[in-house]
Amino acid sequence: MSIRDIRTAPGRDEPAPTPEPAPARTPWASVTACPDGPLLVRGDVEILLASGEPAPRRRSTVALCRCGASGIKPYCDGSHKVIGFTTDDEPV
Ligand code: FES
Repeated sequence: MSIRDIRTAPGRDEPAPTPEPAPARTPWASVTACPDGPLLVRGDVEILLASGEPAPRRRSTVALCRCGASGIKPYCDGSHKVIGFTTDDEPV
């Protein structure tokens, strides 16, 4: 017997339940502060430039510069190591 047979079977008083729609995809993101380095952004988030334009993004995880020395802002290019950038990783 198929599902169609059950839904149309004589004697059923109630309409067949309709399948629940698939749950909407839950957006998520996380930001991890790397000691003496960038902010790692993982997940479904749009990164906007100061102009309001979306920053080009090809990966689900990106590193955002927080030292100010990157040549590819807003992304990290590793320059933080060259300049000896350090962070105070104590919670605020
Ligand atoms: S944090 Fe890596 S270049 Fe700035």
